[in-house]
Amino acid sequence: MSSGSGIPAAVAGHGDLQIRNLRKTYSNVIAVDDVSLTVHQGEFLTLLGPSGSGKTTTLMMIAGFVPPSGGTIVLGGRSLTVLPPHKRDIGMVFQHYALFPHLTVAQNIAFPLEMRSLRKSEVERRVQAALDLVRLPDFGARYPRELSGGQQQRIALARAIVFEPSLLLMDEPLGALDKKLREHMQLEIKTIHHDLGVTVIYVTHDQEEALVMSDRIAVFNHGKIEQLGSPSDLYDRPATPFVADFLGESNFIPATVTAVEMHGLRLRYDRADLVANVAPAVAVGDNVTVTVRPEKTLILPVEAPGSERIGRENWICGTIADVVYLGESRKYLVHLSGGVTLIARQQATSIDMPMLQPEQEVVVGWHANDCVVLPGQSEAGAEVTSAGAEAREMTTRGVA
Ligand SMILES: Nc1ncnc2c1ncn2[C@@H]1O[C@H](COP(=O)(O)OP(=O)(O)O)[C@@H](O)[C@H]1O
Ligand SMILES: [Mg+2]
Repeated sequence: MSSGSGIPAAVAGHGDLQIRNLRKTYSNVIAVDDVSLTVHQGEFLTLLGPSGSGKTTTLMMIAGFVPPSGGTIVLGGRSLTVLPPHKRDIGMVFQHYALFPHLTVAQNIAFPLEMRSLRKSEVERRVQAALDLVRLPDFGARYPRELSGGQQQRIALARAIVFEPSLLLMDEPLGALDKKLREHMQLEIKTIHHDLGVTVIYVTHDQEEALVMSDRIAVFNHGKIEQLGSPSDLYDRPATPFVADFLGESNFIPATVTAVEMHGLRLRYDRADLVANVAPAVAVGDNVTVTVRPEKTLILPVEAPGSERIGRENWICGTIADVVYLGESRKYLVHLSGGVTLIARQQATSIDMPMLQPEQEVVVGWHANDCVVLPGQSEAGAEVTSAGAEAREMTTRGVA
């Protein structure tokens, strides 16, 4: 399988997957709710969302195993909506994609080729090329039970790409593997994607995996796409509280707009005046939510000299409620006088770095550029509380 072989020459737009107004309802459940999405040829796109948000159902409709209740699916200009799965030219890998236990690895990989009635010599050549690609060149004669979980998933991947599909669908393929192996396989899948140039739609509920692997991520929530963009679009400029909270950790500070200026906003939370270099469509007096990532904050003892505060426009006073030791960083939960609990993360750049203590009075600061202002004061506060509860639980488990 040479680089890009079998993949149609890249013509802008011609190999795109176009999904329009896709819907799936089961009696009283809306599993997928009016999803429209274009996946570009050669792109690695991830569907990310919590359990039950409609990711698998979307993938199953693309593959042809679940009939849509409405909408259209077009791949490379050809309508898939009524084509049976085996005619769609799509490879698939699932979390528990059982290899055929009574067939050898080579026979498993050969299976989709035999369905396509290729010559024996061509089948052998392609099976070996696929084994080489997943870096298990000598495993052809083994049976699935003689493989580790990671090796089984590589064989499942080899079987999914051996017929050189134009689209590869993967549903939580690494979900059953331990963390180290998962991270290793993430990089291998990325390399294979790069070498083959195949379009990939990848499903995961693991936000870190999505950030590592994807060209773009579609964040699913309740059957809808909540936001679509590059990993940095989503992480640095979340459009909704859900995205800000699901992708990484975030702070949500309810605030009121006090001034709308050329390049940003002035806001007030409790007794603190805040600045944000963003200009969403809001007016003076509006209630909004200021979000800032824990690692974008600086936390200092309240008595620290003013010189240490230079350069950050926003400062809020509070009291440390909890300290979570995370090895590479420390996480502080800070009670603000206005009732919000803020999370501040401090990178442990030296083991000699002094640890702040519970009950200590601190100030937490951040750059005007590092916060996002979302309209409305949603239930984000509740989400912060749950993040705080989780962190507190970690404190009792992990820190003496
Ligand atoms: N065959 C089915 N019958 C009834 N409800 C279903 C069926 N398949 C999925 N659902 C429901 O549709 C929603 C989306 O499910 P799914 O696509 O599996 O989510 P995800 O893959 O994001 O976890 C869930 O509420 C689920 O319970
Ligand atoms: Mg699923």
